[in-house]
Amino acid sequence: MVKVKVFRCRLCRDPYIGEEPPSRCPFCGAPAWFFVPAEDWNPSDYIFEISEVSKANLKAALQLELSNTSFYLCATNVAKAIGDEYGFAKFKALKKVENEHADAIVKLLKINLPALEKIPCSEDFKKNTKEGWEREDRAIKAYAKFAQEAPELQLKQFFEALVEIETDHLDLHAQNLKMV
Ligand SMILES: [Fe+2]
Ligand SMILES: [Fe+2]
Repeated sequence: MVKVKVFRCRLCRDPYIGEEPPSRCPFCGAPAWFFVPAEDWNPSDYIFEISEVSKANLKAALQLELSNTSFYLCATNVAKAIGDEYGFAKFKALKKVENEHADAIVKLLKINLPALEKIPCSEDFKKNTKEGWEREDRAIKAYAKFAQEAPELQLKQFFEALVEIETDHLDLHAQNLKMV
């Protein structure tokens, strides 16, 4: 008999049941190395003083995540309206992940999640994919810089995990842009 265990994602903090940690967190997309066995979870790992530089960078990251959440929400709705099942699935998954990132950031900043502002998008899957690629590219560059600047090991890892996740998204968009 296969024994399942409980794991926890250190990025979104959500639990997961499985034989092994998933290759990507089903909630926030974090890679397997971000999971720990639930028994080893230490809440005090999340209690630390955040430097001014990281506070400013987390706030900038929050703006990126909220904007991307809202953009992918628009793209999801457009795909749904025109009956594009693939576009609907892809943009909905991206919207959910970016929303989790915004949520993880507000937990670190100990603030409430701001309301989403409406962001326009195209009626066209390829145009939205192209804009998605550009948005992920901007986020990756910002988070790589934020990881370097973070004096806190936890936040360095947090931004590094975001870089990995957004790189998955970038690759996905790139694959779709090659579609005929
Ligand atoms: Fe997660
Ligand atoms: Fe994100």
